[in-house]
Amino acid sequence: MATFSDKRQFLGGQLFGSTYIPKGADLSGKTVIVTGANAGIGFECAKHLARLNVSTLILACRSIQRGNMAKDIITSVGDCKMAVEVWELDLTNYKSVLAFAERVRTTLPRLDALIANAGVRLIEFTTAEGTETTITVNVISNMLLNIGVLPKLRETSAEYGIPTTITIVGSMMHIFGPAESMAPPPEGKGIDTFDVLSNPKTANMGPRYSLSKTLIHAVASQFAAVAQRQGQQEQVIVNWVNPGWCASELDRHKKAPPLIQRILFAIMGRTAEQGSETLVHGIMAGNQTHGCYLSECRAKPESDFLRSKDGVEARARLWRELLARIEKISPEIAGFVE
Ligand SMILES: NC(=O)c1ccc[n+]([C@@H]2O[C@H](COP(=O)([O-])OP(=O)(O)OC[C@H]3O[C@@H](n4cnc5c(N)ncnc54)[C@H](OP(=O)(O)O)[C@@H]3O)[C@@H](O)[C@H]2O)c1
Repeated sequence: MATFSDKRQFLGGQLFGSTYIPKGADLSGKTVIVTGANAGIGFECAKHLARLNVSTLILACRSIQRGNMAKDIITSVGDCKMAVEVWELDLTNYKSVLAFAERVRTTLPRLDALIANAGVRLIEFTTAEGTETTITVNVISNMLLNIGVLPKLRETSAEYGIPTTITIVGSMMHIFGPAESMAPPPEGKGIDTFDVLSNPKTANMGPRYSLSKTLIHAVASQFAAVAQRQGQQEQVIVNWVNPGWCASELDRHKKAPPLIQRILFAIMGRTAEQGSETLVHGIMAGNQTHGCYLSECRAKPESDFLRSKDGVEARARLWRELLARIEKISPEIAGFVE
């Protein structure tokens, strides 16, 4: 459970912290992908990137129609020379993720940054690709994509002699992911933690979204450790950011929030435009943020659990379990980080 110090940091950041886009930022010549770019924080992020003169912007959306509607607005805020493309990506479907990653690797001349923003907050238990859908979308497919585009980021970095970046959208809500849900799975049954969390009889959907964010933070740190290879020319920065509590469509599956939540949001909530500044900051924050969790555009400690001995052990095991799954989905992609 979240400790007093976790909650103090969360509230302090949300109430008194601020977000910003680095002064003088200019993305001329760069190619950036934003997943979940048709709504909420991803959409506002894409608009910022357009204002910052990005050359090629790829909106990764599960609905081409919604993506095109977003594109019409984004193109109207940016430079008319900017290329904006809508590419289909459905994180509930591994084939879609594999096809997207392959398209990136084989057709894009360069890739400067991936902003892995798409995510869901579900109330009902459903499954996609054999695991509970929140876990599939927010964790497994998310990482399948991040690893799947790594060769293009490495190649761009080496070719142009610049760092490239993967910014993963995490959350301050990771502090509420129950530690017991990350306990080692029972031995000898041939199941992993993701299987345990996908049992309809025992799955606890209340804290499921928070748990998915704890899991993505946990594996992001392990991914960062292997994304930059020793002795190679390239430099791929991996960081993960908390956009803060923002107005968006994330709670579309929930009933209207209670009065107390609406009052708290009025006091401390952010607009999606403000929150999305943290994503733009993430891709420009440089090598000193490699392997870091950023909140309010600063490196911050993660939850007490993730930094505890049990948390450190859980990170390593979850990464092994994730890689074993990715090996089954695509040995080629697993090979990019082995
Ligand atoms: N809002 C907050 O307070 C807050 C706080 C911390 C972190 N976050 C994180 O910020 C990110 C963006 O969330 P948001 O608040 O902007 O929510 P949002 O308005 O609901 O946007 C989510 C985006 O993800 C896309 N998406 C959902 N499922 C997908 C799938 N299976 N395949 C591909 N794309 C999918 C959505 O596409 P459709 O429109 O087609 O559904 C939408 O474009 C998420 O990772 C969320 O966890 C949000």
